[in-house]
Amino acid sequence: GKTNVDEGDPRDFVVKMQRANKRCVIFYGSQTGTAEEYAIRLAKEAKSRYGISSLVCDPEEYDMNLLDQVPEDCAVFFVMATYGEGEPTDNATALMELLTEPEPEFSQGGAALENLNYVVFGLGNKTYEFYNEVARKVDKQLTSFGARRIGDRGEGDDDKSMEEDYLAWKDSMWEAFAQRLEVEEGGAGDVADFVVRELAPADAPAEKVYHGELSPRALLASTSGASTPVGAYGAKNPYPAPVLASKELFAVGGDRNCIHIEFDITGSGITYQHGDHVGIWPSNPDLEVDRLLSVLGLSDKAQAIVDIESLDPALAKVPFPTPATYDAIFRHYLDISAIASRQTIAFLSRYAPTEDAKAKLSRWGSDKDIYHAEIDGPALKLAEVLQAATGDGFHPPFDNSTVWPIPFDRLVSSVPRLQPRYYSISSSSKLHPSAIHVTAVVLKYQSAASAAHHHEPRWVFGLSTNFILNVKMAHSGQNTPELENENGLEAVTMKKVPSYRLAGPRGHYVKERVYRVPIHVRRSTFRLPTSPKVPIIMIGPGTGVAPFRGFVQERVALARKAIEKNGPDALKDWAPMYLFYGCRRADEDFLYREEWPEYEKELKGVFRMKVAFSREMKKADGGKVYVQDLIHESASELAPLILEKRAYVYICGDAKSMSKAVEERLMQMLGEAKGGSASVEGAKELKMLKERNRLMTDVWS
Ligand code: 2AM
Repeated sequence: GKTNVDEGDPRDFVVKMQRANKRCVIFYGSQTGTAEEYAIRLAKEAKSRYGISSLVCDPEEYDMNLLDQVPEDCAVFFVMATYGEGEPTDNATALMELLTEPEPEFSQGGAALENLNYVVFGLGNKTYEFYNEVARKVDKQLTSFGARRIGDRGEGDDDKSMEEDYLAWKDSMWEAFAQRLEVEEGGAGDVADFVVRELAPADAPAEKVYHGELSPRALLASTSGASTPVGAYGAKNPYPAPVLASKELFAVGGDRNCIHIEFDITGSGITYQHGDHVGIWPSNPDLEVDRLLSVLGLSDKAQAIVDIESLDPALAKVPFPTPATYDAIFRHYLDISAIASRQTIAFLSRYAPTEDAKAKLSRWGSDKDIYHAEIDGPALKLAEVLQAATGDGFHPPFDNSTVWPIPFDRLVSSVPRLQPRYYSISSSSKLHPSAIHVTAVVLKYQSAASAAHHHEPRWVFGLSTNFILNVKMAHSGQNTPELENENGLEAVTMKKVPSYRLAGPRGHYVKERVYRVPIHVRRSTFRLPTSPKVPIIMIGPGTGVAPFRGFVQERVALARKAIEKNGPDALKDWAPMYLFYGCRRADEDFLYREEWPEYEKELKGVFRMKVAFSREMKKADGGKVYVQDLIHESASELAPLILEKRAYVYICGDAKSMSKAVEERLMQMLGEAKGGSASVEGAKELKMLKERNRLMTDVWS
């Protein structure tokens, strides 16, 4: 082993700062990587504005009680995401515990942080009740210990305006920062993060080149099944799971798709529970890979191999394993299918091939309203923005006359890494211990029209759900032509669906004839009560039913065991399980329609499902019938279950309108049952249910 006494305590960030001459340390509370990205952006901006270098740190890896030793001419940044019901991210739990102790002990004893200068930026979501709770708590606690905030606390809304909130906040914060740290504008300017080298084939043996693997080879399982130790699978090392089965859940002939897909986790060591989420790592479609390669003049070099090295690993880690091909970097590692951000557009304007294109990018990048009208509304991806700026057409074949001379390292610095998308698992591990089921509606919508370059609205395809659709088609042996006959639909096809390969030369994986998708499991607290004698009320229209299929399967597995042990009467004292589900029509989008009667049989007298067919049924006033209306109708059964039998209530699905409407109806029901009003007694009961974790939500927007 290495015994270098000079290395010091690896958890001591203050010593690390001093040794590396850093005046800022930026901690991020991040689950999916967004907060980490903002932390890195802040670090880069400190460098380019003031020439100040920073450490970007995961709070979990450091002793946070050293906050009282940070020198007065330094600053500590907290970039903190808030989850669900005001919870910190996993990597910030210990930090939050420290800061919220009534009398925390920092390293020199006591709770004095008078020397500490800090900055807070929070990432939250306004559709949740506890908006930016974590950032607010950090701010409040640090102030109460005598620390001094720099500028205002920033708060971003993930639901709508994260980027704009950040941009609106940062400039005045930097001014306050410059004053407090007594530094002046005019730092290092536009500094490179990475050095990029193209490797000759001789210098890049096939087994060393990455083609889409999501973690460094050291962590990867061996394809040959050798017994070399393997890093545990997780968010930093997703498992390339074979697809077991896949099918369309909506009626054939409709124009919408909902995919049921099953991943095999046999032998992976991955476990899950009902209610957990699975992260799926999508790839970009051929069209977008080809478009960007073409715009950059790299079409003929798609398979060229590049090695990327960080100039300052503390500030910027290479966001994916290298050496890798250009094709793999665009296909698997960078988020090139997202709507281009204002910041990226503004930054890339300096590399425009013509004055006219430069002026266009500057305009889109600097003016928020123009950006919204011409880029965000029409949903232009980065390469499309570049095409639009030079007047090149959007449709293949691409013969871009104008190539953008963007240095590859700057592109890697300015385009975010492709992130996993999370889905509620729709199976139970009791019934399916070696499979994870996912239920996903394929996202496709019409963009706003744009006067600038398109007069017509365009089809926009959700990256991850269309990736799943492509995997399903490939797995079921279907080609993709059926996708091509609708205007623009070719945008989502993928020649290389089975392109996530383990180590080995090109072609190796395809031989396997197994489609694999990288996944990892994220734990949740969305769980059934342990005892089946506690009543439950599940509300999940549309794909909101996904986790409840898992819940019901979980109880089916338990019922089988109970009946095996105690005979047919075993479920006699089980409490009722209600499922409120909604869809348009029985013969169109009724998810798992044929399964529910089976579950009802196995859970006889226990499981009760009620369905709102919104486009078949009508209320007396002619309005649509939704799940909340069925709840209202069943109030006399449901209220006593909640008030007297301590039932658990679960809501899953659309955060904006559905879950709010359902909560209102619940308040009304509980208020009336208590002989009072929705807004007083009802609200009080609902609040209590939430506090006692008897009303749980798994909602998305
Ligand atoms: P709709 O499309 O006919 O309006 C799944 O998407 C089901 O949820 C559909 O039946 C849909 O009805 C319904 N739905 C749409 N908005 C809703 C809301 N605000 N509350 C409850 N259900 C809703």
